Amino acid sequence: MMDKILVLDFGSQYSHLICRRIREFSVYAELVPYDISLDELKKMNPKGLVFSGGPASVYNKDSPQPPSGIFEMGLPVLGICYGHQLIVNNFGGKVKQANREYGSSLLSIDSDSDLLSGIGKSTRAWMSHGDAAEALPKGFEVIGHTENSFAAAIANRQKLIYGIQFHPEVVHTERGTQVIKNFVLNICKAKQDWTLESFIESTVSEISKIDGNVLCGISGGIDSTVAALLIKEAIGSRLKCVFVDNGLLRLNEEKDVEEIFKNNFEMSFTVIDAKDRFLDKLSGVTDPEKKRMIVGEEFVRVFSEFAEKNGPFKRLAQGTLYPDVIESGVSKGPAAVIKTHHNVGGLPSWLDLQVLEPLRYLYKDEVRKVGKILGVPTKIINRHPFPGPGLAVRVIGEVTPEKLQICKLASKIVEDELISSGWHDKVWQAYAAVGDDRAVGVVGDERKYGHVVLVRVVDSIDAMTADWTRLPSDILERISNRITNEVDDVAWVCYVVSSKPPATIEPQ
Ligand code: XMP
Repeated sequence: MMDKILVLDFGSQYSHLICRRIREFSVYAELVPYDISLDELKKMNPKGLVFSGGPASVYNKDSPQPPSGIFEMGLPVLGICYGHQLIVNNFGGKVKQANREYGSSLLSIDSDSDLLSGIGKSTRAWMSHGDAAEALPKGFEVIGHTENSFAAAIANRQKLIYGIQFHPEVVHTERGTQVIKNFVLNICKAKQDWTLESFIESTVSEISKIDGNVLCGISGGIDSTVAALLIKEAIGSRLKCVFVDNGLLRLNEEKDVEEIFKNNFEMSFTVIDAKDRFLDKLSGVTDPEKKRMIVGEEFVRVFSEFAEKNGPFKRLAQGTLYPDVIESGVSKGPAAVIKTHHNVGGLPSWLDLQVLEPLRYLYKDEVRKVGKILGVPTKIINRHPFPGPGLAVRVIGEVTPEKLQICKLASKIVEDELISSGWHDKVWQAYAAVGDDRAVGVVGDERKYGHVVLVRVVDSIDAMTADWTRLPSDILERISNRITNEVDDVAWVCYVVSSKPPATIEPQ
């Protein structure tokens, strides 16, 4: 069995990042809720545990606690930020409210330790905390400090329990990956046996045990394409792929996807034209969550009608990824439900199909790598993520044919300009959105009261957090000029400079 590290999620926005960093060393890591039962934890047989950070204070009555008995399992533990304070508190030390320390601090190393080995005498470390250790428990020693935290890194060498006040998982911590590597490889002694080739092999072998036919919804994006290819490897012609043209796709996407599938992959592939159905259902609806629900429900209806006519099917496959699973609150951790991602959380009971989600433990960059191994064309591999409810969430307010067309044409311009300037593959997502705001413009000598188009380009590594891309002004200028010149009825173009959090990547 593959070695694994479990990350207990105490609600940090960086919990996923910890998992990803560990997987970068070819060691499998999984995020689990902080209140997972001890029995379940034992069953998963991890080589070590990481406690994530989190917004709570350990001295508060209802602060999230790991299952009791966890420290008696004899496993190495690394507590990060809140996790560090939990360790101090659990072993009888004292944590108190302290001077807020936010941003980069100089971490000075106090003594040799397995955890901080190889990082030199001092290094920049990223801090984000309001509480700090005031007194250390017995058995623990300080191995690193900053100006404001005398116990920024602590160790119980005998029990292999470590706490760090800083965040090794973020890039701002200079030697953060070394700290994680030290913990995972040297302290937990985890084997580096998590490779995507081994993932493909075990997934295909697992899926081949399924009997009956599988129905797979294709979106044209990398996730559903890779999911379909894995399933095809396993069950061949028992896989039937369906692509629903819901009228909420990018410009010419329906034709592109059909062509790519028919030319590259030998699999059963049906296109269903359901444009009118979706647009009818969305007519008059302005509430973002309602729009998401309508699109999600209509998808299910279209699929189940197809299934009834072409079945019987045993399973419905989807390209759900790990962050979707966690962000939609399926994990019982404190990670908040931010938006209803329609493709997560199961299917209505009236649809007699079980979900099959072969990618539910993968991150986007891992899916891209699997895609490459499976021979997916680069055009699909490099495609930016696109939300399940499509342009329904990029058209703010009511979805009308006019706003949809503006959104499609303006997005195509954004995409083209990024491709030609070499920025497309460097950013996470790039698109245009439109709402009901209007502003005055001048065309020739005429006054025009046109739409305001929002251009959003973001950098991200896993969509859990994102920052707006600092695009050079000449590219922004070209995008803006082209949109106002080439798209009818647009007067203004705005560039969105909100990061996530507090904003989200999609406007709705
Ligand atoms: P937000 O807007 O929540 O988006 O910051 C995070 C990432 O998820 C994508 N997204 C979705 N993907 N179904 C999906 O498959 C959805 O309903 C959905 N909503 C948002 C979004 O494009 C971004 O990459």
